[in-house]
Amino acid sequence: MIYPIVAYGDPVLRTKATDIAQDYPELDKLIEDMFETMYHAHGVGLAAPQIGKSIRLFVIDSKPFMDEGEEDKGVKKAFINPVILEESGDEWAFDEGCLSIPGVREEVWRQERIRIRYYDQNWVQHEEEYDDVTARVIQHEYDHIEGILFTDHLSALKKRLLKGKLTKISKGDVDADYRMKFAAAGRR
Ligand code: NI
Repeated sequence: MIYPIVAYGDPVLRTKATDIAQDYPELDKLIEDMFETMYHAHGVGLAAPQIGKSIRLFVIDSKPFMDEGEEDKGVKKAFINPVILEESGDEWAFDEGCLSIPGVREEVWRQERIRIRYYDQNWVQHEEEYDDVTARVIQHEYDHIEGILFTDHLSALKKRLLKGKLTKISKGDVDADYRMKFAAAGRR
């Protein structure tokens, strides 16, 4: 099932999400639907708040960012109740976009490496390190479950320049090739 993606302006994107319990109903189905929703919108990551669920869960697939022949270096995974334990390395800039903010891409600076603890779909706990673009996608999605958007990382000037565009998106005045949900304009 493909969910509509919550657009910028919805309070759920500004809410710190809560951990999910091991008896969360139909978690496998939800994760499957999140991957389907993400691929349908040609995204590389999707966090539960972006489908209106304020829970600490996100899915990623960084394979599209890998060079030809090196797709297996990309990571396709669901992260449940994740905690970023450490970020390290130099900050580097990468052009980020977000399915909740269509048509906006900006350079964001983040550290190159992370260590993260999370549960997988079978409730097995893992502690792993990621770097480069995969770390980047995880950092972006992790922000979502903290109520943070990539535009928050921009300079005051950039934010001022984007304000009109973001207001338009929140009102549903935007073109996306996937279904979206707008807090200010109702469902479309
Ligand atoms: Ni995003």
